[in-house]
Amino acid sequence: MPSTTPPTPALADLLARGGPVLDRRTVLGLGAAAGVALLGACSAGPGPSPSASPTAWAPPAEPLRFPTGYTWGAATSAFQVEGSTTADGRGPSVWDTFCATPGKVKGGATGDPGADVYRRWADDIRLMSELGIGSYRFSVAWPRIQPTGTGAVNPAGLDWYRRFVDGLVDAGIRPAITLFHWDLPQALQDAGGWAQRDTAARFADYAGIVVDALGDVDADWFTINEPKTHAYVGHWYGAQAPGLHDPATAVAAVHHQLLAHGLAVRRFRESGARGRIGIALNLLPVYPLEGADEAAARVDARENRLFLDAVLRGSYPQDAIGPEPGQVPADPDAFAALVQDGDLEVISTPADLLAVQYYGVTGVGVTGEQVEIHPTSAATWQQVWPEGLYDLLVRLRDEYPAIPLLLTENGIPDESPELTTDDPYRTEYLRTHMQQAARAIADGVPLEAHYVWSFLDNFEWGEGYEQRWGIVGVDFDTQERVPKDSFRFYQRVIADNAVAPG
Ligand code: FCB
Repeated sequence: MPSTTPPTPALADLLARGGPVLDRRTVLGLGAAAGVALLGACSAGPGPSPSASPTAWAPPAEPLRFPTGYTWGAATSAFQVEGSTTADGRGPSVWDTFCATPGKVKGGATGDPGADVYRRWADDIRLMSELGIGSYRFSVAWPRIQPTGTGAVNPAGLDWYRRFVDGLVDAGIRPAITLFHWDLPQALQDAGGWAQRDTAARFADYAGIVVDALGDVDADWFTINEPKTHAYVGHWYGAQAPGLHDPATAVAAVHHQLLAHGLAVRRFRESGARGRIGIALNLLPVYPLEGADEAAARVDARENRLFLDAVLRGSYPQDAIGPEPGQVPADPDAFAALVQDGDLEVISTPADLLAVQYYGVTGVGVTGEQVEIHPTSAATWQQVWPEGLYDLLVRLRDEYPAIPLLLTENGIPDESPELTTDDPYRTEYLRTHMQQAARAIADGVPLEAHYVWSFLDNFEWGEGYEQRWGIVGVDFDTQERVPKDSFRFYQRVIADNAVAPG
């Protein structure tokens, strides 16, 4: 049985998004000489090799241009922005339940009001046009389509997405549609959730309903958003819904979400939907400290290869799960027993694209602990290192079968919870990451799109409304939208299809 004992608040914070982290101060606390040696010792080991001299690359004096047709986008997800959580027959999701559990979400926040996009969507589409994006990524809330996760369709839910998608298309904005961004219908969780194989089949049914309804639109589709975060943070660390603390359940949630992905790709093909489909994986370049190559290889397996190998190669790595430092501490044999004949074939059903979500990197120490080797943002799990994006993209080019890549999330939170339009750190983050993207494209990486996370300030999961990730600020009392300085920066990038050196 999964333990439901909450970790201490400090531990919960550390575990919130990236697992255990040893911070820079702690490393330095080992003693000046040892600390400097450790921090300087990130070596080319397992995982993405740091580029030959990671700090040597500097953007040219001229603006870096992107290929004609490069897609500029912005992203959100249903539970984080829609609000109206009980409107038009929507059923409860695991996130409604988690928010209603005292102490789980900062400020006791819930999915209401979100950014009230359920009611304000037409104005928001106008704002997207002002920004100039070619594509908008959003997710469909499964509990609006099937309030209990199975059975009859709720037409009102489906109609809302039809109107929204038509609104985007009328504005010349290509929809980028995520089918699952963590809001599992609560009734399915009550039946075991992603620990149960049957949930994958239920997801395929739901995916079939949505692609049949909206598949006439030329769109990019994503089956599952960050199966890793949902599995680990939701089922192992307990800091997100459904709030479980059981590594065995977490790895079952990995396998069943990946199976759900493969089944949904097959449904997509059967339905004859237009557009393309793939999965959205958050990937984390890992850089071993001295002597930590083996532990870092296991962290790389846990964070990256468990997902990439399954989807792109049809195999699971052998070093992601087990008792060794850096692994998910679950029984590898029990995991293997979940994988039935043919599952990996389903999971690796050829997709049209790979959606990559990149926020930062981690160092890894000898006992597999994550070490802070770059400064973090206000999100303590985010170590900001633009070159990590280049390393990651080049690694995908070199180690995996060729597939179009879309960067579907990339961004940074404001430094404080107060609403502000003055966000130079975000402009700098976006500029430097766009430069690394351009650098990777010039080196032959088939990157086709860059979506900023997030279009709007929103409900940031366990952080509630206290961490603002939008390029558009939202006053959550009045729902007024205020474009931040980074919005203006992004407008120029899009208009020029180029990023200036800064
Ligand atoms: C990603 C999630 C997204 C948002 C950003 C900050 O992991 O997919 O919903 O929370 O992080």
